[in-house]
Amino acid sequence: MNWAACDGSARSESDLEQACKSSRRDGGTNDAENDIMSQSLEQFSAQCHDALKAEPGPAGRRKVCELLQAALKDESFVAKNLDDTTPERKILYEDPELSFCILAHSYKGPKESSPHDHGPSWAIYGQAAGETQMSDFELVERATPETPGKVRKLRTYKLTPGVAHLYNEGDLHSPKRDGPTRLIRIEGVNMDTVKRLKFEAV
Ligand SMILES: [Fe+2]
Repeated sequence: MNWAACDGSARSESDLEQACKSSRRDGGTNDAENDIMSQSLEQFSAQCHDALKAEPGPAGRRKVCELLQAALKDESFVAKNLDDTTPERKILYEDPELSFCILAHSYKGPKESSPHDHGPSWAIYGQAAGETQMSDFELVERATPETPGKVRKLRTYKLTPGVAHLYNEGDLHSPKRDGPTRLIRIEGVNMDTVKRLKFEAV
């Protein structure tokens, strides 16, 4: 199976300890519970940085996915980073060393996106409000710069508030929404700088 999800309920004690340590190191209080319940973007980005630096592959991203799920349940964190003025895409943080980006997205009307991957990058979709119906696809025929690739739908599932999913390099997916949604997403690199190939469902 080429898709990966993280599950906050599976978060280990050592992860929690690490999260607390990072929060304290970055200026939080000694009250570990408060640090986890309400953290700053600086603390969250430092935790993501540490997880990805320690394990640059999918394992580190799964930790980041778990950190994001915890952050999405932090009402104060979400309110500070997503509000009525948030556009469809806003970069909240870009890591100067590892190049990953934390983004806020606020979408208004219904929309279904074409199947896509993120080229050489990975991405984590974190649902903050509303509902995304996400579909995963398998590759049938590779894309070239001239010709769209062909893909076949495998499954559809819901991203509801507090849920985050990891899409590794080449994982093909297509989000759909019927109404307004808000997400916090993390991209391995700023996707504004990456040219992507097109895919068609067959
Ligand atoms: Fe995507």
